[in-house]
Amino acid sequence: MIRLENVSKEFPGGSNAVLDLSLDIPTGQTCVLIGPSGCGKTTTLRMINRLIDPDRGQILVDGEDTSKVDPAHLRLRMGYVIQQTGLFPHMTIGENVATVPRLWQWDKPRIKARVEELLLLVGLDPAVYRDRYPHQLSGGQRQRVGFARALGADPPILLMDEPFGAVDRITRERLQHEFINIQRSMRKTVVFVTHDIDEAVMVGDRICLMQMQAKVAQYDTPEKILTRPASDYVAEFLGRERLVRRMSVVTIDPAALEHPAAGAARGEPRVQLTSSLTEAFAAALTSPTERVAVFDGENYVGTFTATSLLESLRRAGTDGGEQVATGI
Ligand SMILES: Nc1ncnc2c1ncn2[C@@H]1O[C@H](COP(=O)(O)OP(=O)(O)OP(=O)(O)O)[C@@H](O)[C@H]1O
Ligand SMILES: [Mg+2]
Repeated sequence: MIRLENVSKEFPGGSNAVLDLSLDIPTGQTCVLIGPSGCGKTTTLRMINRLIDPDRGQILVDGEDTSKVDPAHLRLRMGYVIQQTGLFPHMTIGENVATVPRLWQWDKPRIKARVEELLLLVGLDPAVYRDRYPHQLSGGQRQRVGFARALGADPPILLMDEPFGAVDRITRERLQHEFINIQRSMRKTVVFVTHDIDEAVMVGDRICLMQMQAKVAQYDTPEKILTRPASDYVAEFLGRERLVRRMSVVTIDPAALEHPAAGAARGEPRVQLTSSLTEAFAAALTSPTERVAVFDGENYVGTFTATSLLESLRRAGTDGGEQVATGI
């Protein structure tokens, strides 16, 4: 667990970039920091790996006060993906990815094997890319390398500052999905900065929505944030599309399904009961009957329709989220 206790940071000549921030980030989870430009996200991240030292307060990693740890040593345990990738331009892709294993003084064959493994993991063929230089890669490929480099020596903690910021929407979505898949198997403790709420909802186990000076407006699961914004500030930040975004975090409610006597009709698309409403609705739009057969494993449990969509959203909003229900 990463624990920030009453952390503040003031830069010379400015007001506080971070003022009295307290935050717990549980081990193995992805915590997203989101908020307006200049609210202190990068500063918070850089205080965790001690690129910046706080003026006041403490940062603990697994109970250990990081101010007592040698910063260089601390950073070896924390992969860092910076805003705009920050690859070393004069080093090949292979050398970039090998940065931290080299600092750990791994032997050459082990480093070589690790570089291969990581490039494959992020979807870059080592034979093609290992000996290229960063300028010979596309923006999306460079971001993959940045991610691979951060994973270098398999650190338990990853700090990611707008890691997928500099690419087009489609590449970005692909990178987000790859990140989610990789994180599912690795379960690192990740602090992920973004200012894109859709990205936050997609990758985060928890979202910390900040106001200026890193003031926590709400720290919660994506679903709670979208369903029950804690203040007008949060609701405004999420915007009108909040109700649509909820579709991606709310799953099908079995009680909202229809049960035609004939069961699942032939030619209807199938989705699993664990699907999000977005997935189910997308399937319904491609269905000749505008209906979708819902399965729990191998068992047919009912049929999803546009009415099921509204009903599922309404039910998800009723235990505490009355405003949401009336908004539909
Ligand atoms: N080295 C510095 N010297 C002086 N002021 C700084 C320094 N670094 C950051 N700041 C100020 O601290 C505040 C927080 O900056 P920070 O980089 O943490 O914001 P951010 O939330 O990451 O923003 P963005 O979304 O634009 O990346 C800003 O007002 C910024 O101008
Ligand atoms: Mg920043």
